[in-house]
Amino acid sequence: MTLIFAHRGYSAVYPENTMKAFREAEKAGADGIELDVQLTKDGEIVVIHDEKVDRTTNGRGHVKDLTLKELRKLDAGFHKKKIFSNHEPIPSLVEVLEWMRTNEMICNIELKNGVYPYEGMEDKVINLIREYEMKERIILSSFNHYSIVYCYRVAPEIETAPLFSEGLYMPWIYAQSIGAKSIHPKYTIAKNELIQMSEDYGIAVRPYTVNKEKEMHRLISTGCAGLITDNPVIAKKIREVY
Ligand code: G3P
Ligand code: CA
Repeated sequence: MTLIFAHRGYSAVYPENTMKAFREAEKAGADGIELDVQLTKDGEIVVIHDEKVDRTTNGRGHVKDLTLKELRKLDAGFHKKKIFSNHEPIPSLVEVLEWMRTNEMICNIELKNGVYPYEGMEDKVINLIREYEMKERIILSSFNHYSIVYCYRVAPEIETAPLFSEGLYMPWIYAQSIGAKSIHPKYTIAKNELIQMSEDYGIAVRPYTVNKEKEMHRLISTGCAGLITDNPVIAKKIREVY
């Protein structure tokens, strides 16, 4: 069965990367969530997509220049630049892991360490996953493949998935060579042959970000391990057809 991951939570309707969006994804019947993490000035892992807070909150500046306390004062309750709710804070990764203790959701943590290397970020995330005993329910992904290699080296028990948006030659072989059990390609390059070959080699494929119904039909009928979408409700309805 193709598992449905709510991209930045149920972000088609709720403010992205907030606890509200994650809770609503669970209510909507998603199997998991995808979220993005950055590192604060005081070394905490927070859930936010951009390196800067400007687009998704009422604040300004870089996450790396703000402390967790400063970031928590900001309002991330915006949806498509409109206020959705009054004070929806930027979650810490700890808050998400605490919430995961109350349910069975899977969580794809995307390490946003492509712009700033965020020294020590991988170890902090891995330590939290170990502390919360969540290794079976976490997938670590990144566009920074050095980071993916590092995660596998220090924590081979946690599933890793390189993200890529352009064609890779035989990505299933590439994944095996770096210890990744899965790949997260952009849906436009996740052709049926790529999916079938990868799955034959035991590499799970979870394309992102799949919001077109036609593409959901194609991926689910091809037998993709998962798909990452802003709208888990639509994906779930389509999955019921198969
Ligand atoms: O997980 C895949 C997808 O989230 C990558 O793109 O920019 O939405 O983080 P982006
Ligand atoms: Ca992401």
